Amino acid sequence: MPAHMDILTPIHKGLLSLLFDTAKSLGRLDFASSIQAAIAEREVRRCTSFLREHTNNEDSRVRPTLLRLAPALASTMLAEHEQLEQEAVDVERLLPDIAAANDADRVELGIELRHRFDLLLAHHVRHTTWEEEEVNTALWAGLCDEELAAIVHQVVADIGPTRMCEWDELVISATNRQEQEARSATHRTPA
Ligand SMILES: [Fe+2]
Repeated sequence: MPAHMDILTPIHKGLLSLLFDTAKSLGRLDFASSIQAAIAEREVRRCTSFLREHTNNEDSRVRPTLLRLAPALASTMLAEHEQLEQEAVDVERLLPDIAAANDADRVELGIELRHRFDLLLAHHVRHTTWEEEEVNTALWAGLCDEELAAIVHQVVADIGPTRMCEWDELVISATNRQEQEARSATHRTPA
């Protein structure tokens, strides 16, 4: 078991898995087909909804504590979240154009969608790796496991049981046995 409770990495693993799955799908779908383009839209929106929700959870439940423990890291986290949100909006902005385009234009827009999505993916990988190294170090230096678990309980309560099932599916599919057992134990003991 790790020396400290890791409240970030298992969720990040789930999100990265979703990002890569979506990128793979965008690379395979035929945008000349309006049916396949609609599949692309659905998958992109599912992905950005999870990314946005996670960022909001970190801003509301992790960042206030980080602001106290390591203000510079809290500022960087906020700036990077804002940048990632803008990049997600830039991806989503293409979707109505794709839905309205003719077959030839849809193919061109599909290429642009994949490029924008791949950049979003790349920046998420860099951001979450930074959080797992820098933010976790600050959290572990300033908080005990009970305090870290309290943050998790707040996020679980914010998400609610129905949506939590979707998060569980995402995270469990991307994590190892130790992470799944730690997650299960933390979620069983609400604050
Ligand atoms: Fe983050």
